[in-house]
Amino acid sequence: MDHPILGEDSRRKTVTIMVDGKPYPAYEGSTIAASLLDNGIRINRYTVHRHEPRGIFCGIGQCTDCVMVVDGMPNVRTCITRVRDGMDIRTQNKEER
Ligand code: FES
Repeated sequence: MDHPILGEDSRRKTVTIMVDGKPYPAYEGSTIAASLLDNGIRINRYTVHRHEPRGIFCGIGQCTDCVMVVDGMPNVRTCITRVRDGMDIRTQNKEER
């Protein structure tokens, strides 16, 4: 639905991102973190030593709480990285203990 004041939704075009091996839709131009929230995913990584879940904290690229493994590269700040069709996104330090 178009916004009554802002008009046509410019984010209408969608791409497909892969999150931990599963496909999810994402608006082209959105950040990875926003796209994950759109799909109900709130955990981006687990802490190394205590294995505690972390998600978006600052949302502006300053805290690194939102880092994930993107296309094989760890520590990508997902709150400031835009999605791309076919992007492979993995929860960082997800391995079971
Ligand atoms: S949420 Fe702080 S760097 Fe992304």
